[in-house]
Order: sequence, then C-alpha cells, then structure tokens
Amino acid sequence: MALAGKRVLLIVSGGIAAYKALELIRRLRERGASVRAVLTKGGAQFVTPLSLSALSEDKVYTDLFSLTDESEMGHIQLSRDADLVVVAPATADILARMAAGMADDLATTVLLATDKPVLAAPAMNVRMWEHPATQDNLDRLRRRGVRMVGPNEGPMACNEYGFGRMAEPEEILAAISRHFGRPAGALSGKRALVTSGPTHEPIDPVRYIANHSSGKQGHAIAAALAALGAETVLVTGPTAEPDPLDVRTVAVTTAVEMMAACRAALPADIAVCAAAVADWRVASRADEKIKKGEGGTPTLTLMENPDILASLSTGPDRPALVVGFAAETEQVVANARAKRERKGCDWILANDVSPETGTFGGDANRIYLIRADGQETWPEMSKTEVGQRLAEAIARSFQDAGDGVA
Ligand code: CTP
Repeated sequence: MALAGKRVLLIVSGGIAAYKALELIRRLRERGASVRAVLTKGGAQFVTPLSLSALSEDKVYTDLFSLTDESEMGHIQLSRDADLVVVAPATADILARMAAGMADDLATTVLLATDKPVLAAPAMNVRMWEHPATQDNLDRLRRRGVRMVGPNEGPMACNEYGFGRMAEPEEILAAISRHFGRPAGALSGKRALVTSGPTHEPIDPVRYIANHSSGKQGHAIAAALAALGAETVLVTGPTAEPDPLDVRTVAVTTAVEMMAACRAALPADIAVCAAAVADWRVASRADEKIKKGEGGTPTLTLMENPDILASLSTGPDRPALVVGFAAETEQVVANARAKRERKGCDWILANDVSPETGTFGGDANRIYLIRADGQETWPEMSKTEVGQRLAEAIARSFQDAGDGVA
C-alpha cells in the first residue's frame, strides 16, 4: 500500500464540497494513511467536527486559540507533524488568504507555518474560479510549489455550469498516491519537455496578438507522459487549463519567453511541441497604451519569432525524439510532411484546425501521425486519448530502439 503509514493533515474549508472530505478520509484510511483534520469556521457550516473525528478516529482541530489544543499540540507542531497537507475543499477565500500569507485562523496559520508539501483541491463557483483575482492567487501559489488537483468542469450546486467543482475523492486520492511515489512506468527515467497553449505577443501594455489555442492538447500530452513515469516539464502559454499532476509547469507569455524556458529545461529525452506559438511579434512594443486619434490608424510592424520546434530539432542538445504538431487548414498531410522535413523533427502530429472542425478549444482531435517512414491515421478521439496514444507510441519507440534514439 503506497499510503501505508503516511500522515495527511486535511484542512476542510467552507464549501458545499466539504462533504466529499468525509469520503476522502475514509479512502485514505482504507489505504493505511492516518488523517488529522483541521476544520475552518466556514467548513463547520457544512460538516460537523464529530463526523470528521469519527472517520479520522482523531481529534479535530478548529480553534487557533484553544488552550487545550495548544497544550496538547501547538499549531507549529500540527503543521509539521504530517507528510502532506491537503486542503479540500480549497475555497476562493482560503486560496486568497494562503496567497496573501495570512494567518488569521488555525488553517491559514498551519499553512503558513508548514514546511511540508501542500496539495489543494479548489472548489468554488465558476465565476469565482475565472475571476482574475483567483487566477492570480493560483499562479502565486503554484509558483510557490502548491500543487492543485482539479477543479473539474460540470454542473454546480449554484445552478451554473463550468469549472469549479471540486475533484472527486478518488482523483484527490490518486494525486496523493502519486505524490508519495510515482508509479514505475514505461517512461521511467526519461525526461520529457512539452510546450502547450498559445503565446501572447504584446502590442502595448493592454493589447496583444494571440490565437485560439486552449492548451488542452499539450496539457493532456504532458499528463500522459508523466503518467507513464517520465519526469515532465510543461512550458505553457496563457491557458485556463489546470496544471497537470506530477508535471513541473512553467508559465510563460511570449514566444521568446517560451524559447528561453524550453532551453532551460534541457537536456531532455523527449520534446513534444504542441504550443500554437505566434509566428510573429510586434517589432517595437509601445510602452504606453496607444491612443486613438494620435497619428491616425496605427500600423504594426511584425518580426518573426524564434521557431522553438526547429531550434530543439537542430540544436546541439537535441532530445532523442522530437515531436511537432502541424496545425493546417488545407492539404493537411502534404503540408505536414513538408513541415516535418523543414523543421527537422522526427514525428509530426497533423490536425485540421479549420473553424468547422472545432479542434481549437474543443475536446476532440483527429490526428495523422507522420514519421519519416510512414503515416498513421488515428480515428477521432478526445484530446486526453490523443495524449495517451502518443505517450504509448513514444514509450514503444524507445523500447523498439533498445532505449536509444527513437
Ligand atoms: N512552432 C514552434 N515555434 C514557432 C512556431 C511553431 O515551436 N515559432 C511549432 C509548433 O509548436 C508546432 C509546429 O512548430 O509543433 C508547427 O506549428 P504550425 O503553427 O503548424 O506551423 P508554423 O511553423 O507556424 O508554419 P505555418 O504557419 O507556415 O503553417
């Protein structure tokens, strides 16, 4: 049992999903972990200390200033006496207080004092999830190493639909299990670099050039490579996609930043360039917002961005297997073949991104896998399945090549 003997400190904050924390405790304990719960004031509106305590078979901690708690166990010790701190549900409010470094109740005090890894399962209304304040807080927390599981998309208790539903207990459990030991897989010992999402190329401080890439495909590939055991770095432009589990995610904005982050992630055995990198950037970005009526309609002079895929394919530290995408709107296979040769990569996954296909932003993809010596046509499948099929093909190619160059 991967979780036997592990000590989890579970912080339950005030969301409707708090009831799922009970199921999470039950499942963690079934797998041999011990769970100690901290319940916030808001959390206590949704579940009782008694139910948490009955399931964890331990005292439940609620009050920062309770003398008995402090005499039995100070909050510092509480925060250290665990192998992993899990916040589930993590409301917009507790995420904001974590990001700000507040310590105004027992939960946030423990989170500020802990020297242990923290995993949070956000749960909130979709508008709260999408609010820039929440997204900024999440970025800050991720940069500090807090890992997120979920949220999921779906109908919400407030009759709205979208991202914000807390991950299911089994998904949180899977994230916890992965934290305590990456399962050995066909790509164990391999390092993978994946690019994903669009890039934003600034025109002035408030405007930018971008494209419709959602990042769904690149993120799914990174998750699938990590699930097969590869040590995976995901370099992503701005997207709404949650960070994949067990992947080191590096957030960038522009193509130039993406290139620098990719270089910094080398050496790698595998590179998959799924990002829709802007081909051009504005040659001289205005320092102030360009105003109407000053000098008529502005003309933008563009300059070419670095080609990350071509650079990885031809650089001195070339990964053994370099995979690119070809986003085409016509003559998909012929254009992709030419692109493979031009860029010097090993494989190209070609897809039709004409608006009527719904590929950009959608959940499904139809792929032609083009190699130097042949081509495969994959049936239409979800982007998650494309990621898994590609990761399996990559694993096979390393096995076939006797673990050498694919
Ligand atoms: N790519 C890249 N850096 C760029 C442009 C593209 O790494 N500056 C990568 C993409 O991630 C993808 C592949 O190159 O893996 C092909 O991208 P695509 O947009 O299809 O092709 P372009 O190179 O932009 O060529 P064109 O626009 O002429 O089709």
